[in-house]
Amino acid sequence: MDIAAITGLAPAIPVLTIDRVADAVPLARALVKGGLPVLEIALRTPAAVEAVKSIVAAVPDAIVGAGTILNERQLGEAREAGARFGVSPGCTDALAAAIKTAGMPFLPGVQTVSEALTLGEQGFRLLKFFPAGSAGGLGWLKAVGPPLAGVKFCPTGGISQENAAAYLALPNVTCVGGSWVAPGAMVAAGRWLEIEQLARAAATLKRGSAHP
Ligand code: 3PG
Repeated sequence: MDIAAITGLAPAIPVLTIDRVADAVPLARALVKGGLPVLEIALRTPAAVEAVKSIVAAVPDAIVGAGTILNERQLGEAREAGARFGVSPGCTDALAAAIKTAGMPFLPGVQTVSEALTLGEQGFRLLKFFPAGSAGGLGWLKAVGPPLAGVKFCPTGGISQENAAAYLALPNVTCVGGSWVAPGAMVAAGRWLEIEQLARAAATLKRGSAHP
């Protein structure tokens, strides 16, 4: 599956910051059961790589990706752990080259039109817009639609159940990402049923008419 196919599977990608490896599998099961099969594990905790491995091994219906990939080393770690796609908050030429060499489906992050143009020149047409909420949000996405025709975004950062529908209605938004479906307190307390319910609500969000 390429990145367009992966991001086409569900309207929302949970961004998961996992502190305890033991939480990874029940958390992934709850999200997948709620209808969100595409998961991004942020490589921001010591448990993250083991969490990716555990979910890959135990939750075959999950499409597990690794997020917060900042460099080639982390890209390699993510691939070795079994991640099927990667996500970065921004991108460098070195990271873009490593992604190309690896051939890994990837959502590189941008915050400006120039960054989107640079990645477009490198062949990336599907980008993470981060941090969406504080970098211009809906207004930015609407404004860049005409000049950046052909580029699609996964806005992340500040997305919630309340504002996700407005993002998803835009023709240049393919899906949204965020942590709201797995709040830290719920994960820490093992409240998997509630997380499943949050996932179910997110999974029923509608995308705009531009989406199949
Ligand atoms: C990310 O890494 O994509 C963000 O931390 C997710 O942002 P959110 O917590 O505001 O959803």
